[in-house]
Amino acid sequence: MICKLTNTHFQVILTVINDAATAYKGKIPADRWKEPYMSSQELKEEIQSGVQFYGYLENNVLIAVMGIQPVDDVTLIRHAYTLTSHQRKGAGEKLLSHLIGLARTDRILVGTWESASGAIKFYEKRWFMLLSREETNRVLKKYWRIPERQVETSIVLEHKRRLQ
Ligand SMILES: CC(C)(COP(=O)(O)OP(=O)(O)OC[C@H]1O[C@@H](n2cnc3c(N)ncnc32)[C@H](O)[C@@H]1OP(=O)(O)O)[C@@H](O)C(=O)NCCC(=O)NCCS
Repeated sequence: MICKLTNTHFQVILTVINDAATAYKGKIPADRWKEPYMSSQELKEEIQSGVQFYGYLENNVLIAVMGIQPVDDVTLIRHAYTLTSHQRKGAGEKLLSHLIGLARTDRILVGTWESASGAIKFYEKRWFMLLSREETNRVLKKYWRIPERQVETSIVLEHKRRLQ
């Protein structure tokens, strides 16, 4: 079951993110890794800046989260995480399809670490295409609020509905 998450889910969203993000350990640049990967303060700031989280529940247990953030003329898919024990079982795809259905803009973008090959495969398999480095840098600076170092080490994919 997919539902919109609220403040009552704050702690469990954080738990899912920090459990799933252990996949990044040793994969993303060492200077970008920290434990826990996301702090309560960071999550609070993300929600305050307009990220709306949706969750996938199995037997009433939250196993995956994904955020959607409208920014100017685009929609960003943010913070996609499935509990390590439940990855590659379809929860991410169901959430992604749901969020794509909610997007009200022509362009839907998602950014991730350049070295997060699993995540890149996940999006490529589900109708997203990598943008060029030039366009990646341009959109990361325009629509995301991330440090320069994260721009250098990230990629952006765009949903194909506009590209085709
Ligand atoms: C990426 C992620 C959100 C996908 O959610 P999910 O519930 O595992 O996704 P699904 O089961 O719907 O899709 C799985 C597909 O994604 C890709 N994939 C996901 N994880 C992968 C991995 N570690 N290695 C290779 N491919 C992977 C594959 O194409 C896989 O299909 P397959 O199992 O048939 O080969 C989840 O795996 C995750 O939390 N990963 C760690 C954190 C992360 O990278 N988040 C993305 C932030 S933008």
